[in-house]
Amino acid sequence: SNDVQADLKHVLYTKEQIQQRITELAAQIDKDYEGREILIVGVLKGAVMVMADLARALHSHISMDWMAVSSYGSGTQSSGVVRILKDLDTDLMGKDVLIVEDIIDSGLTLSWLKTNLESRGTASVEICTAFRKPTAAKVEIDVKYVGFDIPNEFVVGYGLDYAEKYRNLDFVGTLAPHVYE
Ligand code: PRP
Ligand code: MN
Ligand code: MG
Repeated sequence: SNDVQADLKHVLYTKEQIQQRITELAAQIDKDYEGREILIVGVLKGAVMVMADLARALHSHISMDWMAVSSYGSGTQSSGVVRILKDLDTDLMGKDVLIVEDIIDSGLTLSWLKTNLESRGTASVEICTAFRKPTAAKVEIDVKYVGFDIPNEFVVGYGLDYAEKYRNLDFVGTLAPHVYE
């Protein structure tokens, strides 16, 4: 079947809940960065939805740039060894950078990315993620803006994929076992 709904078990966060939380995060970010321009950096591909919504909810002057990274590892587990597939177009010297992610799982990708961007002469590097799993606690990483702390379940939607699908859902839900079993 080509019916997306049939692949889902239940809804974790509705479109309205996500949009409300993004609006709250944007207000906090506007306040924290008052008088400063922000370079928001989205990590392809999962961050496209949160980037688009966050950017439109912010009132500050912002620029947007994108990175694509791949983390080596056995199967689906990320290893923390990260390779840059597409680098930023922007020189980061003196910039206030806000990395935007859809989800932090092991935290290894962001931990590496934050250190990498900081080494380029930034004024500051902070992180904003729509979702965070409890597994992220194992890595020492300061995440300033978190949309939702979620349980350790397989979730899809709002940028999050399973085999590249389901990113386009405007809500976040859990996948029915028949999809991956
Ligand atoms: C996912 C997610 C984060 C990363 C988090 O991206 O979008 O970027 O994994 O994992 P970690 O905290 O364990 O490092 P993925 O590599 O699946 O690529 P995608 O964004 O293109 O889906
Ligand atoms: Mn990603
Ligand atoms: Mg993915």
